[in-house]
Amino acid sequence: MTRKIKIFDTTLRDGEQCPGASLNPEEKLEIARQLAKLNVDAIEAGFAIASPGDFESVKQIARQIKGPIICSLARAKKEDILRAWEAVKHSDRPRIHVFLATSPVHMEKKLRMTPDEVFKTAVEMVKYAKSLCPDIEFSPEDAGRSDHDFLYKVIGGVIDAGASTINVPDTVGYTTPWEFGQLIENIIKNVPQVKKNDVTISVHCHNDLGLATANSLAAVKAGASQVECTINGIGERAGNASLEEVVMALHTRHDFFGANTEINTTEIYKASRMVSNLTGLLVQPNKAVVGANAFAHEAGIHQAGVLRARETYEIMKPEDIGLTKNRLVLGKHSGRHAFADKLKDMGYTLTEENLEKAFEKFKDLADRKKEIGDRDLETIVSEEVYVVPETYTIDSIETSSGTNKKPVATVKLIHKGKPIEITESGVGQVDSVYRAIEKLTKVKPQLVDYIIQAITGGTDAQGEVTVRIKDGDKIYVGHGASMDVIMASAKAFLAAINRLLYDRASSIAKGGLD
Ligand code: KIV
Ligand code: ZN
Repeated sequence: MTRKIKIFDTTLRDGEQCPGASLNPEEKLEIARQLAKLNVDAIEAGFAIASPGDFESVKQIARQIKGPIICSLARAKKEDILRAWEAVKHSDRPRIHVFLATSPVHMEKKLRMTPDEVFKTAVEMVKYAKSLCPDIEFSPEDAGRSDHDFLYKVIGGVIDAGASTINVPDTVGYTTPWEFGQLIENIIKNVPQVKKNDVTISVHCHNDLGLATANSLAAVKAGASQVECTINGIGERAGNASLEEVVMALHTRHDFFGANTEINTTEIYKASRMVSNLTGLLVQPNKAVVGANAFAHEAGIHQAGVLRARETYEIMKPEDIGLTKNRLVLGKHSGRHAFADKLKDMGYTLTEENLEKAFEKFKDLADRKKEIGDRDLETIVSEEVYVVPETYTIDSIETSSGTNKKPVATVKLIHKGKPIEITESGVGQVDSVYRAIEKLTKVKPQLVDYIIQAITGGTDAQGEVTVRIKDGDKIYVGHGASMDVIMASAKAFLAAINRLLYDRASSIAKGGLD
């Protein structure tokens, strides 16, 4: 019989904890909607006590997203648990996830608590959480480096106190698949409450040694029935187990695992693109399942094989993850209807206003570019769907440079309906444009990342620029696409600045709370 493996997605909590991946509340909601389409079993929407912004995001997701369990993380402290409850109680299926470290190094050096104190606190706090919420998950943090007998004692204690899911984290990605699988088997064997209370054993693996997916799968084989993971494997340090890898491994190797998830795999690619777009964390081309090369066959011998029989070199179908071939779909004669239908086909539902703006951009691109593929359309849409209100827009950009000539840029922006213009020079054309934009917007952020890549092949390919800028401890992402790379660079930088200004304005409106 096929065992069901629950997928607990923590992209919006552990994933968002990764350096530089800060998302605003609208973006978190957008991702949560996509996670619901994926049909994940649970969404860890955030860490409610971390900031008023986090609290508000968890609350909005709990209010608006129907289907999955909505969960907030909480330390084993009353104030955390209460805050988590205040946020998730708006869901039809709320969960509080309480954690407390059980490894010697964490207890001694971080918590400064004795094992007895940790045991007592874990039990008391789970009891408290249970008095508020019917569904409690408990994680003994750094379980991978904890003493096994102590771990069994804590797990038994918190189950007696009301926890119905026990999540076993390999917090620092230290274990190997053999050890981690054995640990799960031992927990199930040595904690009688697990079977007696029909408790879900969950796993949460970090990728420090590149073993997060392997460890999660070893745990499934050993009896775990929930896997915690993130889209594209984003997360603290080297990240978490990646949802697409775990899900597609179970799907593809059903013969071996005898287990499956209820994930709608055809939504995987879109989820991956969305998370990458919104966080600015690009997916490496050779990334399993969702990387640009995951289904590309370069070697002639491979191509010939695939043409004769797909399964010679492909173990999954691109369609299974929702990947459409980058074929020519629309041209300059395509009308609004065809455009809207195609976007709908690709899974995008735009408001009338965004559709209109996207269509204008499509027409503009179609005038200059002969072949427009799905990736071009995706870029157009992501510029429209995920933007915040624009404080500044680009009117025109003129640059000049050459051998023995100082690069100069004249940038004209529109602000509150009026044009503003300046000429600046820098070490290159992009630098000159960025200096001009900084002067005009009076924002001088630190440029953390500037990445340029071609969308599709050919010399008429659009260039897509992704920038990440830093203001204080906050990171903002901007994307820009154009056939002119200077324009794409300007669009990306200004998009990030507009996000920064929007965030500053919303913080002031909320009383500077976040
Ligand atoms: O990695 C970890 O231990 C965690 C816990 C809070 C579950 O993220
Ligand atoms: Zn973690």
